[in-house]
Amino acid sequence: MPNTAHIAQAAPAINVWQQDAVDWLRMQPNQSVNLIVTDPAYESLEKHRAIGTTTRLKQSDASSNTWFPTFPNDRYLDLFIEAYRVLEKNSHMYVMCDQETGLLIKPIAEQAGFKFWKFITWDKLSIGMGYHYRNQTEWVMFLEKGKRRLHDLSMPDVLQHKRIHKGYPTEKPPGLYEDLIEQSSAPGEVVADLFFGSGNGLLAAARLGRHAIGTDIAPAAHQFLASQADTQGIALNHC
Ligand SMILES: C[S@@+](CC[C@H](N)C(=O)[O-])C[C@H]1O[C@@H](n2cnc3c(N)ncnc32)[C@H](O)[C@@H]1O
Repeated sequence: MPNTAHIAQAAPAINVWQQDAVDWLRMQPNQSVNLIVTDPAYESLEKHRAIGTTTRLKQSDASSNTWFPTFPNDRYLDLFIEAYRVLEKNSHMYVMCDQETGLLIKPIAEQAGFKFWKFITWDKLSIGMGYHYRNQTEWVMFLEKGKRRLHDLSMPDVLQHKRIHKGYPTEKPPGLYEDLIEQSSAPGEVVADLFFGSGNGLLAAARLGRHAIGTDIAPAAHQFLASQADTQGIALNHC
């Protein structure tokens, strides 16, 4: 749990919707968002479930959440076209993914207009799920619209943050979000997450003084975020 004592007072409220990601993007004005950091419920998660290695993604005592639906591969072009439209002229988008989805969606993001820079590696510092060569890493696809300078040009392309156990299924650590948000946005700017899950990305953005907005279709995600926001003293508006 991050130490929030020094920032809670200044954290702007988080605004969330319970809508499909593409429908939600279609409601947003052109160039109204400075940064998108997101982690879609990609289809290849199903593969891990099918071979029984992804126990945390199943309903279990470890998580009170029912497993959420996946986002179909054939919807990524619409998603990236809309994301490109709502992003400011000079801005970044980060998409968390596994290798299978990353390789599939890279050309789709480029087709929508993004410049693909690289896959950043998230090192979870311990082994996790997987059938062959168990996973210690995931990818974060780094995309650019126009040209925006990163805050810290000395940051390596391997980000080390300990995985989270027994949280929201596939929950990513706050520190991972903080690195990406600090690199590609400034206080007062708008940061969006289209598949917010636990809400760690939105909470990190608010703690860093950004205006955090986002959507998730799962009621469990909204309940999880509400509880976290309450604990951290950050106001949350359900729009
Ligand atoms: C991989 S999880 C995100 C986890 C998040 N990164 C975290 O740290 O907790 C993906 C989320 O996408 C949501 N989701 C699935 N399909 C969606 C859709 N069409 N539109 C919006 N959210 C969707 C799921 O409910 C789930 O919470």
